[in-house]
Amino acid sequence: MARQTSDSLAHADGGPHPQAALRAGPCHVAIIMDGNGRWATMRGRPRLFGHHAGAKRVREIVEACPDLGVKYLTIFAFSTENWKRTQVEVAGLMSLFRRYITREARQLRDEGVRVRFIGDRVRLDDKLVSLMDELELITSQNDRVHLTIALNYGGRDEVARATKRLAQDVALGRLNPKDVDEETLPKYLDTCVLPDPDLVIRTSGEARISNFLLWQSAYAEYEFVDTLWPDFSRDEFARLLHAYGARDRRFGAVTA
Ligand code: IPE
Ligand code: IPE
Ligand code: MG
Repeated sequence: MARQTSDSLAHADGGPHPQAALRAGPCHVAIIMDGNGRWATMRGRPRLFGHHAGAKRVREIVEACPDLGVKYLTIFAFSTENWKRTQVEVAGLMSLFRRYITREARQLRDEGVRVRFIGDRVRLDDKLVSLMDELELITSQNDRVHLTIALNYGGRDEVARATKRLAQDVALGRLNPKDVDEETLPKYLDTCVLPDPDLVIRTSGEARISNFLLWQSAYAEYEFVDTLWPDFSRDEFARLLHAYGARDRRFGAVTA
């Protein structure tokens, strides 16, 4: 499998990498949508109010992608660590995810968005998982924008689950340990069909990655902005994509 950086002209599906058609914009943008809780608290409202406001921002950003040259958008919705929050907040978020999928499914399908979920589904309730499966299925023929939603996702958890499956293949004689390398392991990750992110954006002023796409972001560019996620706009998104164009991505090499 060809390395899935935007420098490669080979894409996961074997076709030309979408970046090949672009000049400077990032092909795959990943967003850590942070700051919903603080946004609500500043308004004297419960944290869930902020999560609902945050969910509403997603549509505008997804809709902006085709015009801005973003083929892949990956958003962090719930981490493997977010279960540590109060039962009220966790239950509210799970209910929000169910409602979000139900409400947005038709529009996503009709607008050519292919939706995928990454993360461990085992801990999610059956109703939510069946909605996720259904949304993946009904959008599976779409190719205009690839929206990946990280739900109960943790980078370390993903690598551990991938390693478990890889070890099973070794135990079954399907994989020779000698063949395990940087090309093999990503085939076992949840993101196996996606290119690596070119740009990772985190809102809310926190400068950390909180267990997001650890393997995949090895050479991503980062943007940390102070805006709280419910205030993040298309214009700010466009500005960050433009700034990305001025970055010199060297991947360890020396450019002329
Ligand atoms: C991000 O917003 C959404 C989730 C983690 C589900 P937060 O809920 O983390 O908001 P802050 O960081 O507390 O403001
Ligand atoms: C990261 O935000 C997870 C999501 C945005 C879903 P957190 O708010 O959970 O991260 P920390 O706790 O500030 O690192
Ligand atoms: Mg947060």
